[in-house]
Amino acid sequence: MRVVTTHLHITSWVLALILFLVVLAFSNQAGKEKTAKILHMVLRLDYLLILYSGGDLFAAYSSMSGELIIKAIAGLWVIVAMEMISVKTQKGAPTKAWWIQFVIALLIAIMLGFGRLGLGMAWFL
Ligand code: HEM
Repeated sequence: MRVVTTHLHITSWVLALILFLVVLAFSNQAGKEKTAKILHMVLRLDYLLILYSGGDLFAAYSSMSGELIIKAIAGLWVIVAMEMISVKTQKGAPTKAWWIQFVIALLIAIMLGFGRLGLGMAWFL
């Protein structure tokens, strides 16, 4: 079961990153606001898959570690940053501060997820 959850987790956040970039691309095109809005709704549904699979991986740990908690917070932070950048881009508001947070949180989530934590695939160990 755990392998399934890990694959669901990875698939759902990779899909989120792709959808996020597509939403931004459509948000910046005149006349494509409606397409951007619909894809943004799909992106929000995908957040639920990330949260479900991340929560399930989290619950699989019998003891908490600092790295695990930081990993989960970084993952949540990536979702918040994607949402803020998407909304602000659609409104034409500045996004730079959120981009910086997005990159930092994404790096932390991926490095701790693949590199340090024990479940699933430890590619960098
Ligand atoms: C877009 C956001 C996210 C990204 C990019 C991300 C990235 C990753 C990566 C790369 C892994 C390692 C996969 C593996 O080999 O098992 C992972 C595992 C994990 N993620 Fe996420 N994640 C995100 C969101 C979340 C959220 C919101 C939570 C918590 C609610 C969460 C909790 C976990 C847990 C507990 C693991 C298992 C760690 C382990 O391998 O031992 N993630 N995530």
